[in-house]
Amino acid sequence: MKLSQRICQTEASRTVRFSTLIDQMKREGKNIINFAIGEPEFETPESVRQAVKEALDAGETRYGPVGGIHELRSALARQFAGYGPENIIVSNGSKQVLYSLFQVICNPGAEVLIPSPYWVSFSQQVILAGGKPVLVNTKNHQLDCAAIEKAVTPETAAILINSPNNPTGAVYPASDLKIIADLAEKHDFCIISDEAYEYFVYDGLPFVSPFSFENIRDRLIVIRSFSKSFSMTGFRIGYAAGPEEVIAAMAKLQSHSTGNVCTFAQYGALAALSLDQRILSERKREMEKKREIACAYTAGLFPCIRPGGAFYLFPDISEYLAKTDTDEDFCTYILENTGVAVVPGRAFGRAGHVRISYGISENLLKEGFEKISESLKNLERKR
Ligand SMILES: Cc1ncc(COP(=O)(O)O)c(C=O)c1O
Repeated sequence: MKLSQRICQTEASRTVRFSTLIDQMKREGKNIINFAIGEPEFETPESVRQAVKEALDAGETRYGPVGGIHELRSALARQFAGYGPENIIVSNGSKQVLYSLFQVICNPGAEVLIPSPYWVSFSQQVILAGGKPVLVNTKNHQLDCAAIEKAVTPETAAILINSPNNPTGAVYPASDLKIIADLAEKHDFCIISDEAYEYFVYDGLPFVSPFSFENIRDRLIVIRSFSKSFSMTGFRIGYAAGPEEVIAAMAKLQSHSTGNVCTFAQYGALAALSLDQRILSERKREMEKKREIACAYTAGLFPCIRPGGAFYLFPDISEYLAKTDTDEDFCTYILENTGVAVVPGRAFGRAGHVRISYGISENLLKEGFEKISESLKNLERKR
């Protein structure tokens, strides 16, 4: 059977070999401590679960409006000054939001600037949309605004900003976001702001969205998700906020692809929006404490830039690599010797690194790091 060029050009996840090994070890009854997981271990809040049960009992089990139920879109729009429900589309996770967005903004060959390292799906989704991902290296995990401007061409359609960042945990300062906003205006491209980790910004700092810059609102699409913020990864609810014509185009695409997001799940999302803020603050505090634990252990093992947000560390493990070893081999070594799973940096476009998620329980976090420290004693460092 012949497959389309489009799907053939798309790379399968580089973590596949690795996930297969994890599955095999689990089947063999081995205990795995999962530092590879991309979700916080907190439970989905009680009020959210309750709202879903009530929605089910109330018969909210049918097709709904393609772009999301009106109450949810209206509530989401209230977060964005001047926006109404027509500026919001709700999709199956922010993953689908991003997929649809690239489909509607990319003509063949359209270039999308992506600061690197980056979340795995960005580049592949651009390719699936017929566009061309243009990777621009970050400097110490921060935006290199000069390099970004150099990478702009007449084909540049958009830049993708992801702060707090997956995989590095970096939070970009407002001053850099402003430079990017001005570049977008000067060179006439749009900004996609992936704010999946908006609730996880530490050190008492506020979360800053490019939406705060009024001059770019006609070229900005904000992408958010209920997954990480409210521990609702399985609900598959994400949304975009942006200019009406982009949202309408995405809704047109969605009407032919998935239709609406699970109707009763949307009532859970609605309940999440009126969640007691103290629950979210408490969770953030707990996560911040785990960041301290993870940073303290990592500091004794590898060079690692201290992250300001999300729940990932992205240390440089290259001094443990012999000439022919890759970060994938390193992850396999750690997994086989300790049962701790971490993700190779190459999966995020940066070899010689690993991504460690510290969103798991404090006990497991400590146990996992103790095991890694022990097993690294047997690995010679390149010095
Ligand atoms: C930066 C970023 N964006 C988007 C997503 C997709 O999340 P979801 O589809 O669960 O909303 C993820 C998931 O890991 C992510 O890390």
